[in-house]
Amino acid sequence: MSDRVKTITMDIVEAVRDVMRKHDVTFAEYRAGVGHLIKTQEAKEIPLLLDVFLNSTVVEIENRQRDGSKAAIQGPYFREGAPRVNDSLAIRPEDEDQPRMVMRGRVTDLGGSPVADAVIDVWHSTPEGRYSGVHGNIPIEYYRGKITTDENGRYECRSILPVPYQIPNQGPTGELLEKHMGGHSWRPAHIHYWVHAEGMRDLISQAYFEGDKYIEDDSCNGGGTEFMVPEAYEDGVRVMEVDFRLDPAAVRAEAAE
Ligand SMILES: [Fe+2]
Repeated sequence: MSDRVKTITMDIVEAVRDVMRKHDVTFAEYRAGVGHLIKTQEAKEIPLLLDVFLNSTVVEIENRQRDGSKAAIQGPYFREGAPRVNDSLAIRPEDEDQPRMVMRGRVTDLGGSPVADAVIDVWHSTPEGRYSGVHGNIPIEYYRGKITTDENGRYECRSILPVPYQIPNQGPTGELLEKHMGGHSWRPAHIHYWVHAEGMRDLISQAYFEGDKYIEDDSCNGGGTEFMVPEAYEDGVRVMEVDFRLDPAAVRAEAAE
């Protein structure tokens, strides 16, 4: 038996009971809630439902233990096996005329020293708001890649601009968000990053485009504004300058004890 599982489970149950008492929840409403959860399970959307409401809270708790750059939600569209890239992600022939961006910045430790040979997994949406390796048989090499930092901890890689997109909204989770809660299922445009470096704590984060739609009203409560990149261009190319300060891996080991 785990005391922690028992304690947390009973705290969850007590918190839900408090909400039911606060709102005088009726038996019919209770049954409707159970029915919605059954529909969510049948649609295999339990992970989606939980991630929409609670993933960002786990990230928030984890960030209390970070002194460097803060983490954000990973989302469901990371895929293993993205190619190593140099100066550009692969761009589909039909997207050649899309607006461009350059992702660049520096990876350092907490003291500001460069972290060379850090590998940064980046992934972002197509111009239709879809992801390669996930949606519509788009080959995995597009809009994903592993970038490596140079001896000064710098990285630079080009691609096209991602766009805002809707999380899956045709099932019970979308029904809950849109029909029953009057909300929406959109996320602001963003770039996902997963930074790995030897001896350092991994960092999963996202960068956003300042002034973009849905920044203030992200359906996934996506994870903060640390990497809200101001609008700047070089030769018509949007510059996404993002620096990562990594915590040492040892901090994680201590925290886990
Ligand atoms: Fe995403």
